[in-house]
Amino acid sequence: MAHLRPAEVLVTADQIQQRISEMAKDIHRDFPHGVHFVAVLKGAFMFLADLVRQMPGDVSLDFMAVSSYAKGTTSSGEVRLLKDLDTTLDGRHVIIVEDIVDTGLTLTYLQDILRARGPKTVRTACLLSKPSRRQVNVAVDYVGFTIEDRFVVGYGLDYAEQYRQLPHIAVIA
Ligand code: IMP
Ligand code: MG
Repeated sequence: MAHLRPAEVLVTADQIQQRISEMAKDIHRDFPHGVHFVAVLKGAFMFLADLVRQMPGDVSLDFMAVSSYAKGTTSSGEVRLLKDLDTTLDGRHVIIVEDIVDTGLTLTYLQDILRARGPKTVRTACLLSKPSRRQVNVAVDYVGFTIEDRFVVGYGLDYAEQYRQLPHIAVIA
């Protein structure tokens, strides 16, 4: 098989920053008294870093790491918790920060375990969504960009741990 690498740019760095600034305003409008971001490592690290810098008002944050067991090319819905949160969610307005929602299985798992920890609310912000791939109906409250069913890298997203550093989103080919 030929080596796959980033080919076409799908979302430019400027488009990403512009959209994140709108998402930050939307989140602040809905939660003017502050939010607690829970970012999912590793893919969401860049999105979180840019999102918090555009947030007016009070912000706190924490990280989780999960790995989904793949069955072939699709995730199985079985998720393993690699790193748990450092702090409690009790009484907080929690926003899960994800890089991309594909089948929706990982996000469903995360929403379920975080809701069980006593937060006031749980909402989700994802930079990218591939609705045509959805296997479960999962609520995503803030979506950066809706994209077609293509494998993308950059801006935190990887292919075999490569290309996370790109400032834009590119299609692998
Ligand atoms: P889901 O459980 O199928 O929604 O899986 C979501 C996870 O799969 C994301 O958090 C990514 O880690 C990974 N993923 C899905 N699509 C892509 C892609 O196009 N590029 C890179 N990673 C992806
Ligand atoms: Mg991810």
